[in-house]
Amino acid sequence: MAAASTATAASHSASFPAASLRHDARRPSCVAPAAAAATTAAETGLTAVPAPPPTPMLRVVPESLQRDSGCLVAGFRERGAGAADGEGFGDAVGEGGGPGAMEYLTSVLSSKVYDVAIESPLQLATKLSDRLGVNLWIKREDLQPVFSFKLRGAYNMMAKLSREQLERGVICSSAGNHAQGVALSAQRLGCDAVIVMPVTTPEIKWKSVERLGATVVLEGDSYDEAQSYAKLRCQQEGRTFVPPFDHPDVITGQGTIGMEIVRQLQGPLHAIFVPVGGGGLIAGIAAYVKRVRPEVKIIGVEPSDANAMALSLCHGKRVMLEHVGGFADGVAVKAVGEETFRLCRELVDGIVMVSRDAICASIKDMFEEKRSILEPAGALALAGAEAYCKYYNLKGETVVAITSGANMNFDRLRLVTELADVGRKREAVLATFLPERQGSFKKFTELVCHMR
Ligand SMILES: Cc1ncc(COP(=O)(O)O)c(C=O)c1O
Repeated sequence: MAAASTATAASHSASFPAASLRHDARRPSCVAPAAAAATTAAETGLTAVPAPPPTPMLRVVPESLQRDSGCLVAGFRERGAGAADGEGFGDAVGEGGGPGAMEYLTSVLSSKVYDVAIESPLQLATKLSDRLGVNLWIKREDLQPVFSFKLRGAYNMMAKLSREQLERGVICSSAGNHAQGVALSAQRLGCDAVIVMPVTTPEIKWKSVERLGATVVLEGDSYDEAQSYAKLRCQQEGRTFVPPFDHPDVITGQGTIGMEIVRQLQGPLHAIFVPVGGGGLIAGIAAYVKRVRPEVKIIGVEPSDANAMALSLCHGKRVMLEHVGGFADGVAVKAVGEETFRLCRELVDGIVMVSRDAICASIKDMFEEKRSILEPAGALALAGAEAYCKYYNLKGETVVAITSGANMNFDRLRLVTELADVGRKREAVLATFLPERQGSFKKFTELVCHMR
């Protein structure tokens, strides 16, 4: 059964869309040889219930929003369409069924995340600060026990489950950091956890989840397929689904980072830069900080090719990206959450977009600054802070960037080092076609020499 190759696994999986899974005795395992320890969907013998048709969302391409690096894509607040100031958002946020501002504030204050998470240090990035002419502080979420902030939200939600719910177990779908957060939280709470990951998940990632005691199921070619399968299995086994971002308790858990920043940094603060995927982290931070320090700007950072929040803010509603760049895999989502969007459109000042090269340059900056290696999503806020400071020629201000994760795929390091100097504009990559004719290369070098 475990003899199927990865390619075979992927193609079989593709012909069994997760929403229409049925137990089929002939279906080969979707486990690659190296993944023999992980359970497969087929082994669980599930009978699928067709998923209800999703509400259609406006589909857009990331390229439809073009901005210079660091230029703010204004949120509703900045455009004056939302609440006028931090005092005003209380009522608005509570509309539409979600918790109100005061509820978020008190939930953050009483959160239990410190059973598993540390209060991460806030450190001055001296070299970067000197270069930019600002005081740039970094909130070191990459130093958390599973090397990212994601355990905060997962644990905060799971710690609120009843004994019966914990006994029935939890399930989640994730290709990365959320999986480790759920697995560690389950270990601490003594509950059974099933983590569904796409078949393409690198072995290093699913193994680290398994080492935390969770059962890993490799299912689907994409995150969406893995998620549909997890939701299906959750219904059938009575497990609790732990979403990666779109749940008030998850958002609240991530909001504890905002609480720590406010406590750790007294005095004027211009802005907090936050990496954005589904929006749980920024929504939680904004829900807390805008209540207690409304003058502090909350600025999201997205890769230019994974800009679902920026586009949703522009359109005034959640949109679905037709395609999404996967370099910063932690934030590669096609659509932001409903609750996270509801909070962000009210509270967030805007989003800046950065290139892949800029992210690589920031990974290098962090290495030079603290000798730490961040994953691409983990360095996103640093890249955004730098781009914003340069674009608006910000001088003398204090800003914070959240370094959100360090689960770097080691094989990616070569690409990162190659692109870092491009991002810093010390090198350029040029591509061209050369005709297969004698003298072509000579002509090419002459042309390039003239360009200097
Ligand atoms: C390292 C890292 N940074 C940022 C994010 C984005 O968080 P959110 O999806 O809550 O916006 C994630 C999400 O998994 C992540 O893993």
